[in-house]
Amino acid sequence: MRKPIIAGNWKMYKSFDEAVDFAEEVRDKIPSAEKVDSVICAPAIYLPTLVDIATETDLAIGAQNMHYENEGAFTGEVSPAQLSSIHVDYVILGHSERREYFNETDEAINKKVGAAISQGIVPIICCGETLEEKEAGKTEAKVVYQVTKALEGFKSEEVKHMVIAYEPIWAIGTGKTATADDANHVCGFIRKTVGQLFGLDAANEIRIQYGGSVKPENIEELLSKEHIDGALVGGASLEVASYLKILEAAS
Ligand code: G3H
Repeated sequence: MRKPIIAGNWKMYKSFDEAVDFAEEVRDKIPSAEKVDSVICAPAIYLPTLVDIATETDLAIGAQNMHYENEGAFTGEVSPAQLSSIHVDYVILGHSERREYFNETDEAINKKVGAAISQGIVPIICCGETLEEKEAGKTEAKVVYQVTKALEGFKSEEVKHMVIAYEPIWAIGTGKTATADDANHVCGFIRKTVGQLFGLDAANEIRIQYGGSVKPENIEELLSKEHIDGALVGGASLEVASYLKILEAAS
């Protein structure tokens, strides 16, 4: 049995005070980490404070991006070693917003995945198709390509501890969710791809999230599906009540 993982992605929202209030309120209300992994992926400048607030609780803290080099002349960037030095547990990599607005390539994402695991940070690797690709019947080809590139060169033992987030781009922030059956179909297809590349153990153990307008009203149905092991949640992770309801549904 794979343990569900719910990751809130705050994107570029919340003031510092709002972030602190949120974390202080949820840290003692979240379900046990024996039942569900509860993660908040926050803006980089809030991470040290949130890690402190979450210490010795079941709340885990993640970053939303990072560079693949551990140090160097890369103005404005944050490195894997720097994230590791403040005890960040997770990092979202290859989110469609980074691919679209910051020209992030599959090659860079692959390097970032390697950098994350070498620092002991669990990568949440995003993939997903545009509406145009969906309508052209290219969903499976797109996610297979992205997942294959992101995981190129890793060992089965490494891959099974990673997380993949399937996020159809047309469902992000739009209120449109893929049906639970469609999301399950694509997550199952991703699992099959992992199996072909890295073997049955990796396929059975890797956790695959769905993301795209997840909310308390649809989380239960999504999680009832065989291949959906959790969710990457944007908008609904910004409110304490809806974040906690989603976690409770997963526990
Ligand atoms: O990382 C989260 C996704 O982009 C989903 O965002 O839940 O607001 O649609 P959303």
